[in-house]
Amino acid sequence: MKQDLIVILDLGSTKNTIIARAIRDLGVYSEIHPHDITAEELKALKNVKGIVLNGGENRIVDGQEVEVRPELYDMGIPMLSIDYPQSKCAKQLNSLPDEDALKNFVFEECKAEANWNMKNFIEDQVELIRQQVGDRKVLLALSGGVDSSVVAAMLIKAIGQQLVCVHVNHGLMRKNESENVVKVFRDELHANLIYVDASERFLGKLENVADPEQKRKIIGGEFIRVFEEEARKLEGIDFLGQGTIYPDIIESGTKTAKMVKSHHNVGGLPEDLKFELVEPLKQLFKDEVRACGVELGLPHDMVYRQPFPGPGLGVRCLGAITRDRLEAVRESDAILREEFAKAGLDKKVWQYFTVVPDFKSVGMKNNARVFEYMVIIRAINTVDAMTASIEKVDWDVLERITKRILAEVENVNRVCYDMSPKPPATIEFE
Ligand code: XMP
Repeated sequence: MKQDLIVILDLGSTKNTIIARAIRDLGVYSEIHPHDITAEELKALKNVKGIVLNGGENRIVDGQEVEVRPELYDMGIPMLSIDYPQSKCAKQLNSLPDEDALKNFVFEECKAEANWNMKNFIEDQVELIRQQVGDRKVLLALSGGVDSSVVAAMLIKAIGQQLVCVHVNHGLMRKNESENVVKVFRDELHANLIYVDASERFLGKLENVADPEQKRKIIGGEFIRVFEEEARKLEGIDFLGQGTIYPDIIESGTKTAKMVKSHHNVGGLPEDLKFELVEPLKQLFKDEVRACGVELGLPHDMVYRQPFPGPGLGVRCLGAITRDRLEAVRESDAILREEFAKAGLDKKVWQYFTVVPDFKSVGMKNNARVFEYMVIIRAINTVDAMTASIEKVDWDVLERITKRILAEVENVNRVCYDMSPKPPATIEFE
């Protein structure tokens, strides 16, 4: 292994991630592991230079004190306990340490080297993936989102043609999005990529379905079915690559940390399709995933793209999806993104997109009455997507975008700007 490691044992404190980040900020790699890890498992992690036990009030679960295995105290690895009075660590602190205390522990007592960087991380992961997979094959659903793209790039580096990527185009992708996935992964990175154009199938299932939840269910369910069909066609695949990142694990709840919301990354594949998971990003935070993608040579646009919901443009073509309105969403979204990039807003605004409602309004084109759709522009800023405020877009930029949408997008005669914060509005309309 290239990197020294400080392990934080999860006793249920919500502050573990803060400590992990603080240690990584010192240039030393840090991972969070379950409190009941065995001495053997710890040894297998290699290069463990120190252990942090972070207590806090959450370490009492169902009236029971959460304890680490006593054998860990005898491994000769320096240990630091924080707010955990019962621990047998030589070094104990009552509260979260400041940078100096942490520095002292990491460098003086653990003698760790500041050798955590993306290059070393990637080399370590490549080695671990090769150990895990051997000469067998890994399947990956490659949506083109940040996480799946970075996992794909990492797996290509580690095992090349032993990775089989499946990209399902559900017909609700943004303009040129699927084409771009094929271009980057098949043409440039020479990935073994199966491209499935399931647009007709999805649009068929969604016909006349107006209820937002129903739409989401159909899109999610159909996605799993298409992926499953592709998986069944392939033979001799033992592993499933997953773009799980650290916040996914936290949100789904660990052995001790409480569940925030359920996470369905594995996506409900049937029981008889059993895969072992390969999750090389599961210890990374989102910004680190992006840095990892850049280091692996992925295009900047792919790695720094704004969030895009799984159901895609399907939840932005409001009500029952029709092809003409879906096209209007796709084209107006492309114009919005182009103009935001020109104005430098793509680097400033957290998320921006267009929606097309399922009603028409009266207008005039070429001296004749028209009855057409409207495009609503939404641009918001947020930290965690739980609350959001609108971006106060410059009037000239909005006018330029409006002019282009009215001139270039068919069936549209009106453009509006959504002024609503979250709450009470959500970021998406459906
Ligand atoms: P809302 O609309 O709930 O959205 O305020 C919060 C954030 O989540 C994104 N979003 C989704 N992301 N699958 C996803 O991966 C989904 O089904 C989904 N729905 C909403 C939304 O774009 C926003 O960033």
